Amino acid sequence: MIARDALARDLERARRRTLTLTDFDDAELRRQYNPLMSPLVWDLAHIGQQEELWLLRDGNPARPGMLSAEVDGLYDAFVHSRASRVDLPLLSPAQSRSYCSTVRAAALDALDTLPEDDDDIAFRFGLVISHENQHDETMLQALNLRTGAPILTPRITVRRGRPGLAGTSVLIPGGEFLLGVDAETEPLSLDNERPAHVVDVPAFRIGRVPVTNDEWRQFIDDGGYTQQRWWSARGWQHRLEAGLSAPQFWNPDGSRTRFGHVEDIPADEPVQHITFFEAEAYAAWAGARLPTEIEWEKACGWDAAAGTRRRYPWGFDEPTARHANLGGDALRPAPVGAYPDGASAYGVEQMLGDVWEWTTSPLLPWPGFTPMIYQRYSEPFFDGDYKVLRGGSWAVAADILRPSFRNWDHPIRRQIFAGVRLAWDA
Ligand code: AVJ
Ligand code: FE
Repeated sequence: MIARDALARDLERARRRTLTLTDFDDAELRRQYNPLMSPLVWDLAHIGQQEELWLLRDGNPARPGMLSAEVDGLYDAFVHSRASRVDLPLLSPAQSRSYCSTVRAAALDALDTLPEDDDDIAFRFGLVISHENQHDETMLQALNLRTGAPILTPRITVRRGRPGLAGTSVLIPGGEFLLGVDAETEPLSLDNERPAHVVDVPAFRIGRVPVTNDEWRQFIDDGGYTQQRWWSARGWQHRLEAGLSAPQFWNPDGSRTRFGHVEDIPADEPVQHITFFEAEAYAAWAGARLPTEIEWEKACGWDAAAGTRRRYPWGFDEPTARHANLGGDALRPAPVGAYPDGASAYGVEQMLGDVWEWTTSPLLPWPGFTPMIYQRYSEPFFDGDYKVLRGGSWAVAADILRPSFRNWDHPIRRQIFAGVRLAWDA
């Protein structure tokens, strides 16, 4: 059973994020920063449109809502590609804000009358909270691609790192563990995280922390981007076509650009903005490999001594700034070693927060997968060409994150806040 006041609180927190990330003038909100991203005003109204669909229209787009059918259709992500959204007759920023707040008022009214034991409807509220927060991260990706003087500044500073951790690893002994979660243990978990099932994982080693900028610099200096032998055939082809020679946002003069701020590249910060193919090449160069998502989840969530999963890597306490860099306010990952209190039972650090971590796994359903009310959240992406990312970047809300959370993207994408953690056969 999920408490109504917790849902109301998380809805409110997500909305505060959304409004902060769209607190710009009309011209800004209508800009398309990059063809990979929507104009912010599309995300804004889409957040409200999906909330209305799942909470007020029973998930049925044929059921009339507050918008005309034509306008409603503009916010269907499966009909309009991101690149094309800037040319649509979208709601204005003022109309979008007002629509979102009208939907929210009605949603809160519905929440007030929700029986405490209606888990199905409570789940839909959780879905809406997750969806809004996920779009907040998407908007941060767009804002990071924006050119011009910065319009975002960090609202928190991250903790200091600890030296000596980069390049070290932890042994995860072989054996069975419980992969995934169920409605009983994680009522707000999404369809692709379920059902929980036992899997046997041979022993392996995993990086205690993610790969740092300094380590990535050594890869570059050693000719990592110019020697085909480290790359998969597809990865090499993409490297040539896209002209990759360093992470996105690294400048030729040795600086980097982050949300419009030009700065030195911090040596001990996890590397971000690399494709899956670059991660794979780096791992080969380092004499390692990428983890599978199953290995990753065991290292993150399994407590072998207790024979149970933990709710978070560190245990059952709610996430705080002591545990992980989450929530999007830092605008950056924290240096490696910044969160000893966030270590998993095996002693693996920074698994939640900081950067998404590429895995070798294609996004596929767990056995017994059943689509949730948002039927097209996961299922259309089970075609084998999406790679799973695990963890959760600094831009993810703590409210929606779990060790079982699965993200995915095309292996060529790098505007996402993704880095890499190595693994080795034991
Ligand atoms: C799970 C982050 C890959 O952004 O495409 C948002 C989340 N789905 N609206 C995406 C999502 C529908 C999704 N990812
Ligand atoms: Fe969406």
